[in-house]
Amino acid sequence: MEKKVDSILKKYNYDPNSIIQILDGIQDEFNYLPRETVEQVSTVLKIPLSKIYSIATFYSVFSLEPRGKHMITVCKGTACFVKGSSDVLKRIEDRLGITAGHTTEDKLFTLETVNCLGACALAPIVVVDGQYYGKTTVQKVDAILDEYQKSEERLVEQVQE
Ligand code: FES
Repeated sequence: MEKKVDSILKKYNYDPNSIIQILDGIQDEFNYLPRETVEQVSTVLKIPLSKIYSIATFYSVFSLEPRGKHMITVCKGTACFVKGSSDVLKRIEDRLGITAGHTTEDKLFTLETVNCLGACALAPIVVVDGQYYGKTTVQKVDAILDEYQKSEERLVEQVQE
């Protein structure tokens, strides 16, 4: 972990002004910002830990908790809400057994909400791993989750063979 963080720091010439890019690089590598990595960045760049944490919590793109392999984002903005996003969200929560802001125990899915994705014409929208699913319904969400869960099962079978 230490070596990987060091190579990210090196890529940005150990420049404290590149802190956001550095944190972004760490998150790409580990899928979140592990505490040890934040401490290493703080020590090497001589930036107070509190400052790094305030940056990490200000930008919603950063996560201080381990995240799942698949990111599911449900838009809860007005247009999506009016078109039924709360039913869609409830369905995903029920299927995954978690509430928004959490990760499934098997670390496969993290569920988040946002306030508007800027594509209100497609409301209600669900995004999975960067792919937008517009005009979603409870049935569509079932089909999407079925697909992801089946592909995960196939992966497990391949590993076991
Ligand atoms: S309210 Fe959902 S995309 Fe705008």
